[in-house]
Amino acid sequence: MHIAFVASECVPFSKTGGLADVVGALPHALAAAGHQVSVFTPRYRLTRVPDEHTVVQSITVPFDDRYRFCSIVEGTGYPDVRFFFVDYPPFFDRDGLYGTASGDFPDNAERFALFCRAVLEASKVLGVPDVFHCHDWQTSLVPVLLKTQYAEDPAFRNAGTVFTIHNIGYQGLFPPEILPLLTLPWDLFTITKMEFFGNVNFLKGALIYSDFVTTVSRRYAQEIQTTEFGFGLEGVLKDRSDTVTGILNGVDYEAWNPQTDKCIAAHYSAEDLSGKGQCKRDLLTAFGLPEKDIDIPLIGIVSRFAAQKGFDLIGQIIDRLALEDIHFAVLGNGDRLYEEMFMRLGKRVPEKMGVRIAYDNQLAHKVIAGSDMFLMPSRYEPCGLSQIYSLKYGTVPVVRATGGLDDTIDLWDPRSKKGTGFKFQEYTGDALMRTIHQALAVYHDKESWQKLMRNGIGKDFSWRIEAREYVRVYERVRQQHAQAILV
Ligand code: ADP
Ligand code: GLC
Repeated sequence: MHIAFVASECVPFSKTGGLADVVGALPHALAAAGHQVSVFTPRYRLTRVPDEHTVVQSITVPFDDRYRFCSIVEGTGYPDVRFFFVDYPPFFDRDGLYGTASGDFPDNAERFALFCRAVLEASKVLGVPDVFHCHDWQTSLVPVLLKTQYAEDPAFRNAGTVFTIHNIGYQGLFPPEILPLLTLPWDLFTITKMEFFGNVNFLKGALIYSDFVTTVSRRYAQEIQTTEFGFGLEGVLKDRSDTVTGILNGVDYEAWNPQTDKCIAAHYSAEDLSGKGQCKRDLLTAFGLPEKDIDIPLIGIVSRFAAQKGFDLIGQIIDRLALEDIHFAVLGNGDRLYEEMFMRLGKRVPEKMGVRIAYDNQLAHKVIAGSDMFLMPSRYEPCGLSQIYSLKYGTVPVVRATGGLDDTIDLWDPRSKKGTGFKFQEYTGDALMRTIHQALAVYHDKESWQKLMRNGIGKDFSWRIEAREYVRVYERVRQQHAQAILV
């Protein structure tokens, strides 16, 4: 089967979060299973395309007042998957992917509309896939256009669409005037299509027009059909509940493996954990924490800073945390509110909390390898990858039991000695504090802790397994199309 991925970020070319990791890894797993896979993504300022060559010189994208002309470049370097980059410097040659520290770019609707139209037009030249696999709101217009303005295009007669929700908190909401600007018909502005409380909602369009909707964990697939987690789209999802499926993210163990990781101070494995001590020492130094404190439990955080991630709970209990014999290594950036909060906390208890406000991949690996525990107290979490990486590094996750965090972390049971981490339900500082205390108690029982670490290292979340679930979905979509054509 030929599958074309359409996504706004993809490792190693661009990244702000886990979406990039998924789009960078799943295509290779599908190719290894014998499928033909291509990936379309924008070319940003930071994107480095190896041995680039132009494969489509000019694509016309209409806007109400003018035409814009973009091109498609291809890179080499991967024998199994073709990577195509939509090249349009006025929209993508910028520092950020979606905005700056002061907010989103004002022309994001235009930027990603151009991206989606370019992908469709380019496919007609480069080969139309059996399935377009689109990810998050930025790619919504692919399914929308295929079922509306492109519905009669014979080139796409056999092309199906799968849409994966990585985070329903980001929907692409724009004022109604965006429709004529993007040369989209007013007909889309109704409650059964893209209208959403007076605005145009890109994600809603994708949920309605895709052949199949998936999300990134089983638990999140249920959660987003409720008022608490659906961000207003729970009704739309319920209408499509026959297709809404949770497929857990896998991870790339070539990039995240303590036996081979090039970013960390020493290698280690379940059989020989000694290198982890060296990684911890290295991490303490990197965060300006006293190296002599090697036996004090170290809790790591690597995160985008956003309300989703639940760090307000840490703010609530910082006085109590300051009394405990624990250290924190915090790496993150994003919302100013949380950047400032962590900087304040770091200044208040500098001997206990090392804080780095940055996006730094090498340091992220060091934190995950060198910490004893990894904290993700998320308010909601579609899947979460860092807790899965942590398991492989013998770094015990402490998480809130929501979405993929609940699906991937098994509660430690002191009697059976089964389980891989600690989790709490209630979204309160007290519940978090209690859970940290439970983790600390086990940490001081060296034998149990080693067992707990090894339980995590033994888990396998590789894509090989979950990629099969996607293939099943692609097959279903292909069959639906074949039947529709026969009818
Ligand atoms: P989300 O996609 O919601 O941000 P995930 O846990 O799925 O959460 O994925 C986050 C990814 O981004 C992980 O690969 C993590 O290592 C990386 N990451 C997050 N923040 C940073 C940072 N400040 N520096 C480096 N990598 C980061
Ligand atoms: C989103 C989610 C995260 C998920 C990632 C990859 O950014 O917030 O939970 O792991 O996408 O699917």
